[in-house]
Amino acid sequence: MNFTVRAAKVNDLEGILEIVNYNILNTTSIYDYEPRTLAQQIAIFEEKTTNNFPLLVIEIDQKIAGFGTYGTFRFKEGYKFTVEHSVYVSVKHQGKGLGKLLLSQLIETAKKQKRHTMIAVIDAENQNSVTFHEQFGFETVGLMKESAFKFNKWLDTVFMQLILK
Ligand SMILES: CC(C)(COP(=O)(O)OP(=O)(O)OC[C@H]1O[C@@H](n2cnc3c(N)ncnc32)[C@H](O)[C@@H]1OP(=O)(O)O)[C@@H](O)C(=O)NCCC(=O)NCCS
Repeated sequence: MNFTVRAAKVNDLEGILEIVNYNILNTTSIYDYEPRTLAQQIAIFEEKTTNNFPLLVIEIDQKIAGFGTYGTFRFKEGYKFTVEHSVYVSVKHQGKGLGKLLLSQLIETAKKQKRHTMIAVIDAENQNSVTFHEQFGFETVGLMKESAFKFNKWLDTVFMQLILK
């Protein structure tokens, strides 16, 4: 399998959007209800660029197969050394190690940027993602019960944390 991991460019945003919207419409990994528009995705990209947050993509055969990013955890200044990240791989390419590649690069970037800790906010039903994060040393530090509502049911949210050393 030939692939490249690199920083996202504007031309990649439609590919990212395809993965995001699949997950919005079919999964509880993103708590939005309505598909994201290209304009919204462009605004997110610009916000990441302005704040020097990474947005990485994996490209396979000229198609976006996954992406990883992080951003502000909470907006008070004291949280500036903490980031909340996300990693998404297209269904077609899951289970081939691409998620691991993206998360390890995000961790490296976070260390270079002198961040102190990374937080994953995961739907409690998403055991794959919990196991995935445990492999990197993330620990479950909280469970927020019935904190979201989607597909006509209450959802619990798991917080996982890695202190960067
Ligand atoms: C979670 C996700 C990012 C993992 O990426 P991936 O490329 O599929 O995972 P990898 O191939 O790198 O596998 C890493 C580990 O994750 C776990 N994992 C990933 N997919 C799994 C699956 N379908 N079933 C069980 N475990 C799985 C395994 O522990 C795996 O380790 P192993 O290969 O040593 O068994 C990806 O499956 C995904 O995008 N899922 C949908 C969106 C999502 O839930 N994102 C995370 C939101 S917090």
